[in-house]
Amino acid sequence: MEINYIQAVRDIFSKREAPPLCCVHSYGCQQNVSDGEKLKGQLCLMGCGVTDDMTAADIIILNTCAVRENAELKVYGNIGELKRLKEQKPDMLIAVGGCMGQEPKTAEKIKKSYRHVDIVFGTFAAKELPRLIYEALTQRTFIVDTAERNTECFEDIPAVRSEKYKAGVSIMYGCNNFCSYCIVPYVRGRERSRSPEKIIEEIKRLVSDGCKEIMLLGQNVNSYGRGLEEKIDFPELLRRIDNIDGDFRVRFMSPHPKDATKEFFDVIAESKKICRSVHLPLQSGSDRILKAMNRRYTAEQYMDMVEYARKVMPGLSISTDIIVGFPNETYEDFKQTLDIVKAVKYDNIFSFIYSKRTGTKAAEIIDHTSEEDKGKWFRELLAVQREISEEHYKRFLGAEFDVLFDGTYKEEFISGKSGEFIITLVKGSPELIGTMRKVRVTKTHNWAVEGELV
Ligand code: 5AD
Ligand code: SF4
Repeated sequence: MEINYIQAVRDIFSKREAPPLCCVHSYGCQQNVSDGEKLKGQLCLMGCGVTDDMTAADIIILNTCAVRENAELKVYGNIGELKRLKEQKPDMLIAVGGCMGQEPKTAEKIKKSYRHVDIVFGTFAAKELPRLIYEALTQRTFIVDTAERNTECFEDIPAVRSEKYKAGVSIMYGCNNFCSYCIVPYVRGRERSRSPEKIIEEIKRLVSDGCKEIMLLGQNVNSYGRGLEEKIDFPELLRRIDNIDGDFRVRFMSPHPKDATKEFFDVIAESKKICRSVHLPLQSGSDRILKAMNRRYTAEQYMDMVEYARKVMPGLSISTDIIVGFPNETYEDFKQTLDIVKAVKYDNIFSFIYSKRTGTKAAEIIDHTSEEDKGKWFRELLAVQREISEEHYKRFLGAEFDVLFDGTYKEEFISGKSGEFIITLVKGSPELIGTMRKVRVTKTHNWAVEGELV
């Protein structure tokens, strides 16, 4: 007989004096944060309360990211720090999940060197959490689940969201692109799209719940729909979402330049609710490196795409991801990246030094470029972008932004993001947080703008 693990864990917890508290800490991208909200949702179904304070928690889940080595080192540092906590509270459960959890080498390392961890589970086992917790509670042995299950989407699991007014909605999972540097296809599996009905139903529910900004999430949103029975693609999904009634706006993360069609930009241009900002990961401006990265576009095709996007949306704000120091990159290659950065004038770039990920194609390349050069080029890129932002943000002076406030900055500022995804600061009261207000820009910096409520 199949055990109802949620109920079984509830029964165990109900014998305790007070309901246990869980703390789920997510690293990395928005998709992972969204997965973390669903891990919390399952823990609540099992009778747990939620806390952000690890020292108060009876169950801690580190929902990890494997995209770069730095992220992994941070996780191992944090796992190490939990040892003392576990010594004080031997009954607590510590679990390591997410993208690192999917890699078998993680479980091996944790089993050997971090004996205070109870469970290691991969992204595919996220829905198995009730069983894993049940096994850990009843067997008190080291529980590992890194099995590959490639079919299901994370459907029908309630999310515990940290913010009422903003939400990430996954539209697809996994990635089929196999960019040669990237571990994601290995730890998140093949592309699976959610049904449009489920997505639209979820958005309607969020909007009627007061949500003002929906971020559509996927590793490669514009391959949405491939493999679904119904013939639908990302532009069509955007159209349907744009037609949902209500006072909210829509963003998405991230499209792949190779799949960004004219229709995709036309739909954004014609829409009422989709923000005029797109993230278009360039990675490199050198055709030689783009080929080695398996990105499947050239610098020229990328520039044509940007030109078209700006033609149909003159004020469009564009951001990007750039990797500096791909194996055997030369300064000539890097200069071509700089050329594109200067030509596009991004509003924001997220730049990373290449990090070797075992198991990927690029990891097999013998790299002759020195770490010192990579660091030097990386700093050069940051300096160039700082100047561009400084200049480019001036175009916003006097503009009116729709800002969704979500936090504070220093003592005196309330901060939020505009539709263009620009950090906007105003002097005001914390009651602004969670509201969408019009702001006139009065001052610009190279990372944010300041303004007044209109
Ligand atoms: N090294 C450095 N950066 C990477 N990214 C993905 N894999 C690596 C890697 N091995 C960056 C890419 C991607 C972003 C999410 O992370 O720029 O767009
Ligand atoms: Fe990684 Fe490329 Fe897939 Fe993005 S599109 S997740 S960079 S393989």
